[in-house]
Amino acid sequence: MINLSEFSIFFIANWKLNGNLSFIKEYTQLLKVNSSNGNCVVICPTAIYLNNFKQNEGNYYLGAQDISKYETGAFTGEISSKSLNEFGVNFCIVGHSERRQYFNEKNEDVKEKATKLLENEIIPIICVGETLEEKKNNSTLDVISNQILKGIPSESNEQNTIIAYEPIWAIGTGLTPSIEEIDIIHQSIRKINNKISNYKIIYGGSVNAKNSHDIISLSDVDGALIGGASLKIDDFNKIIG
Ligand code: 13P
Repeated sequence: MINLSEFSIFFIANWKLNGNLSFIKEYTQLLKVNSSNGNCVVICPTAIYLNNFKQNEGNYYLGAQDISKYETGAFTGEISSKSLNEFGVNFCIVGHSERRQYFNEKNEDVKEKATKLLENEIIPIICVGETLEEKKNNSTLDVISNQILKGIPSESNEQNTIIAYEPIWAIGTGLTPSIEEIDIIHQSIRKINNKISNYKIIYGGSVNAKNSHDIISLSDVDGALIGGASLKIDDFNKIIG
């Protein structure tokens, strides 16, 4: 299993339901990863394409976008952590707000999925974040605390689990919290619980080539989870460069 403490900054590309074979071929030819600077770059395509990346592997790691909470059995359409491990996948996003919103995923599901991933030596990237309404109600920290306390398994620690803070209202909208707000919320997340105070905590939500540097320069931000801008190879190269 990868030891997270070996890296300083994480750049995780969440392709969501985008990409195809020719896109992957061109993307991997143009992707410029500098592995000597302590950065960890992870590409998360849709699961069916994971093996195409393996064939072209460069200085980056592979991640899945979701996983079954079940290991084996009569669960049509599911993919297990064990099979991700067989294909050399090192990371997996869990509890993304789109999974919570469109597929009714609950904190308890997130915990079960993360547990299965850890059992199979895969790093869970556990997503948390508030809606705009929750932000307006000043309940951001309560929402995140609940997601963290209920969604992170006891087997997690700072070397094997990443937390991704993604305010839902910032995803795909071009809106982001201010740099000061990101700084404060990341500091506050670390104080939710002693156990997570030294976790790698990354930020996601409209990260792009212009704002990424300021965001990842914050001492309590350990990287970025990037959606739309990760699909534009020139922008993504600038972000990870
Ligand atoms: P955008 O970068 O497109 O806002 O998406 C963020 C995200 O959801 C990454 O998981």
